[in-house]
Amino acid sequence: MTSRRKFIQNLTASGGLLLSASAIASRAETLSSAIDQIKKSPNPEKEDVFWKQIQLAYTVSPNLINLNNGGVSPQPDVVQEAVKKYTSFSNETPSYYMWRVLDKDREAVRTGLADLAGTSPETIAINRNTTEALDTVIFGLDLEKGDEVVLSHFDYPNMMSAWKQREMRDGIKLKWVDLKLPESNKQKIIEQYLDLVSSKTKVLHITHLINWIGQVVPVKELCEEANKRGIITIVDGAHTFAHLNFSVADFNCDYFGTSLHKWLCAPFGTGMLYMNEKRITKTWPLTPDHDPKRNDIRKFENLGTRSIPAEIAIGSAIDFHNMIGSDRKAERLYFLKNYWASQAQEMPGVTINTPSEPELSGALAHVSIEGKTGRDIERHLLSKYRIHCVAIEYRGFDGVRITPNVYTVQSDLDKLLQGLSDLTKA
Ligand SMILES: Cc1ncc(COP(=O)(O)O)c(C=O)c1O
Repeated sequence: MTSRRKFIQNLTASGGLLLSASAIASRAETLSSAIDQIKKSPNPEKEDVFWKQIQLAYTVSPNLINLNNGGVSPQPDVVQEAVKKYTSFSNETPSYYMWRVLDKDREAVRTGLADLAGTSPETIAINRNTTEALDTVIFGLDLEKGDEVVLSHFDYPNMMSAWKQREMRDGIKLKWVDLKLPESNKQKIIEQYLDLVSSKTKVLHITHLINWIGQVVPVKELCEEANKRGIITIVDGAHTFAHLNFSVADFNCDYFGTSLHKWLCAPFGTGMLYMNEKRITKTWPLTPDHDPKRNDIRKFENLGTRSIPAEIAIGSAIDFHNMIGSDRKAERLYFLKNYWASQAQEMPGVTINTPSEPELSGALAHVSIEGKTGRDIERHLLSKYRIHCVAIEYRGFDGVRITPNVYTVQSDLDKLLQGLSDLTKA
């Protein structure tokens, strides 16, 4: 079978049994010819054509440049179509078609996610988001009064709040790493965490990519140190799954939670919890079923009624991601960040608050301008250039967070640079 035909079949099949083929097939044909072209003769110009074709696979507004993909990402058309079709199908008789027919595909989705994570399907629970994944873990661990948890002020608010609640209810002790960021020396980050570890430390909570400014934390090395000391490791991977190119298995962590509606561009309200097999019986589910102690990752999926169409359409997002390829996507995202950040940092008064090293950053970066607040920058970019981004003022940083995605083209970033440049002169 030719690769093009196979590609089209994949895209169509990934939309599910119900997808009408014509719209999907014509997009697939366009995309597929671009891919063939690149494969024949890879060069930067043709690579750019490829990414322009990727942009066409999305339905993003031509009238607004979205540079806040860190919040939540849009879905490519093929994923939206899958959600629509699965929803119509379910509506024929929800308790039959949604629960007895569609739900059977859940195991294929689990396998697809496990392949991306480089782990076994028996370690993957499908849920709604990182908050649900990590709250399941935070509230599911047996911890006693006086047990210590090491975490950072740069973790995500929902997770910090969950730990604070455990502190209030159960008397555990939170030890806060006052991370000095941005940091380009991995060892210094590791030391900042290890300085707070004691014989009472039971858990290390690590955010893989810090949402405030885009710093990547050396998770693998930290987990190695924690494992030596018998400390449980929880990784917040909201921003890294299907963004940076890594395998969850490589980390040797105990838990890894992520939101699939971020970098995988899967349907809104889809997430994933990886749990090391040896932790499954020891972790209490947040929403237990008949046997909370059993050794089955599926015990973490007793979430009540939720959108099975969204969950099953994760399969289309995985297909789309695999069509680009994890390595090529990670490289492109890093390239886009560096394209604008390296030029912006040459402007007077501009500071990029994110490391530039590929090991310590991805697509997401924070920029500030002397004499301007983040809100000033956000307002100017939106009103003059129709660029949507988000102001972030946190722990001494005041600027905007810029997050392109695979559908972002260089000309969008040129407008961003123009907008930043205006502000350095105003
Ligand atoms: C680091 C981090 N963790 C967790 C979350 C929560 O994600 P969700 O709202 O999908 O649960 C976010 C959201 O942006 C985040 O940036």
